[in-house]
Amino acid sequence: MKRILLFSLPILIIISVIFAIFGFYQARSIQERLIDEVKSKAKAVTESMELSAGQILATRDLRKAQRLIEKFETRERLQGCVLYDREGKLFVITKRFSEWKGQQKPYLVKVLSEKKPHGELTKFGDYSVYSYVHPVLDDDEQILGLVEVIYDTSYVFTRLIGLWKRISITLIVLMISILLISLLTLRQLFVVPVQRLTEWFVHFQRGNTNLKPPIRDAGELGKLAEEVEQVALSLRVARQSMIEDAQGRMEKGELWTEKRLRDLVVAKLGENSLFVVSNREPYLHVFDAERSETKMMFPASGVVTAIDPIMRACGGTWVAHGSGNADKRFVNSRNKLGVPPGDERYILKRVWLTKEEEEGYYFGFSNEGLWPLCHVTHTRPIFRETDWQMYRKVNEKFADSLLEELPVDNPFIFIQDYHFTLLPQMIKKKRPDATIALFWHIPWPNPEVFAICPYQEEILEGMLGCDLIGFHVQNHCNNFLDTANRLMESRVDIEKFSVVRSGRETLVRAYPISVDLSVFGTPTESVLKQKEKIREELKLNGRIVAVSVERIDYTKGIVERILAIDRFLEKYPEYKKRFVFIQIAAPSRTHIKRYHDLIGEIDELIERKNWKYSDGDWSPILYFKRQFTHEEISPYYQLADLCIVSSLHDGMNLVAKEFIAAKHDLSGILLLSRFTGAARELTDAVPINPYAIEEFADSIKEAIELPAEEKRLRMMRMRETVGKNNVYFWAANIITDLTELKNTQSLRKEQG
Ligand code: G6P
Repeated sequence: MKRILLFSLPILIIISVIFAIFGFYQARSIQERLIDEVKSKAKAVTESMELSAGQILATRDLRKAQRLIEKFETRERLQGCVLYDREGKLFVITKRFSEWKGQQKPYLVKVLSEKKPHGELTKFGDYSVYSYVHPVLDDDEQILGLVEVIYDTSYVFTRLIGLWKRISITLIVLMISILLISLLTLRQLFVVPVQRLTEWFVHFQRGNTNLKPPIRDAGELGKLAEEVEQVALSLRVARQSMIEDAQGRMEKGELWTEKRLRDLVVAKLGENSLFVVSNREPYLHVFDAERSETKMMFPASGVVTAIDPIMRACGGTWVAHGSGNADKRFVNSRNKLGVPPGDERYILKRVWLTKEEEEGYYFGFSNEGLWPLCHVTHTRPIFRETDWQMYRKVNEKFADSLLEELPVDNPFIFIQDYHFTLLPQMIKKKRPDATIALFWHIPWPNPEVFAICPYQEEILEGMLGCDLIGFHVQNHCNNFLDTANRLMESRVDIEKFSVVRSGRETLVRAYPISVDLSVFGTPTESVLKQKEKIREELKLNGRIVAVSVERIDYTKGIVERILAIDRFLEKYPEYKKRFVFIQIAAPSRTHIKRYHDLIGEIDELIERKNWKYSDGDWSPILYFKRQFTHEEISPYYQLADLCIVSSLHDGMNLVAKEFIAAKHDLSGILLLSRFTGAARELTDAVPINPYAIEEFADSIKEAIELPAEEKRLRMMRMRETVGKNNVYFWAANIITDLTELKNTQSLRKEQG
């Protein structure tokens, strides 16, 4: 509409001005003509009265005078007739016009002195009238009196109003016609071709690169379409040769790296074809009110740590909840931005949630329901119907947001975690051609535990919309297959590790997630400097340093760890003043009471234990409660002699692997809870049971006292494992399995 107005407004203004000028002159000439008519009528009437009026005025015969004016009174539009004597005093007047007597008549004096007729328009009450005065002279040209006739001229104005009305109506009709013509012209000449070009672009963007451009004329738009077609052709050719190059490199089979994964994705899926969905976004924009500045933050989340390097390697689109308080300021009109900022490798699409949605879906159902249900840590899960409804609604919201982005053919969607159990089926219903994988980053409990969930069937049904479901370890896969087998009508194929329901098959596989070893590459000058600075500041020189890094979560065994350290110092007092434990912990989900209480409990416990042991400048526990970036954590890993991971239950635990990745000099030893997924792979760590405080305390001592060479050997073997089974290997396995599955499915279809 704005464009149409811009286009037609100048025309409309010009036409209106022309009409106004034309109307003004037309009205003026009509008015003059009508007044002239009245004037000549008045003149004729007064002249015809002049003779009789002269005799009557000479004799001052009142009766004759009365008759004379009554005779003329009947004339068309003549309202009144008046005779004045030679002094200008009223002699006789038409009866129905008697109020004219009181009217001011300055012109009489003029007519008496100049002896010439005079006519003028004037007001009489509410009427508009024309008065014409004619002098009556005797033979010696001496004044005998005056004759005045008064005409009603309201009809002149009525005619003028009629004229203006006609002009206005014509103008309005003309304007509407001009607007309609502009609309149609704009539509035909501009809007429709641009719409067709845009649609073609959208198809091209979504992977349908073989469509011909829709405009084929010689005009400007035709030229634009031709240029775009050339770009499209070059892109198509570039993509094809990139795929061939990637296939060539793939066949060489080296260690999995960012580059190799990229080649695999390009060869198997095409460029920018990966769609990731998770609740937590990889980059948050947060406004710091104290400093009045906006900061970009990388959240403490295992999912983000693992998926970000994959997206950096492969490109694509990551859809996640925009949870930073300044997030909205950094997205484009489609809620997207390129990330990492300054080195844009992939697209982040932010989905906005209302407070109620976040409360029900994230805090409620996901983190008070599913999280404790899946982690067997004796925190009771809470399931509220209202949370469930919100959870479903938010899953739908993400489905809509994702569907908008998908290419026309065979998209590949990789969903993360327990926040989106309903999403796979929602997508599959609308896009059966989509390949969908879900990775479950937390443990999957046994069927008895899962049966507590009131929405078990809907959840399983939703998840089975996937082609593949991945867990960290085989045990979680077995639990899932058992759950599907027992809690819903389905067929579990033990040989293939799949669930078949309503004719659809979902593979269930273990893929132990990992990290990118190079994130903690050879420590830079600045990391080493930082390490020395920390040693100085925290007075760590000559002391044994243990470190733990995590979100403050009851599954992480933080309380148990502090109790074990307390017991260790109690039992082995020779380590007093020689041992320092650094706890780095990011507050998390603080809106949930259990988390809020835990923060208080940890604060109080650390305070108490430090009080118990501190001596001079030594306190056994140093507690840093805030968000740390990878760069900030790196020097702590570098200087630590021990890393303690004491989760009560954990899907994998990437901190354990990050510590190993950071230890280039092969120093340090890892204490690792038996209840983490990582414990299956990292068999060279010192295993602990965080619930058994006594044993845990002994393990700390045992780890410290291991011979240096043994520590080096253990670290070397663990680095080999993590280096080989890195995060690129993890992603490559999932993508390879999925593409093989797809190929088998299409082969089966072709064979009928
Ligand atoms: C676990 C979950 C992730 C989650 C992370 C951090 O690792 O598996 O999905 O992102 O915790 O939790 P948060 O609720 O802060 O995202």
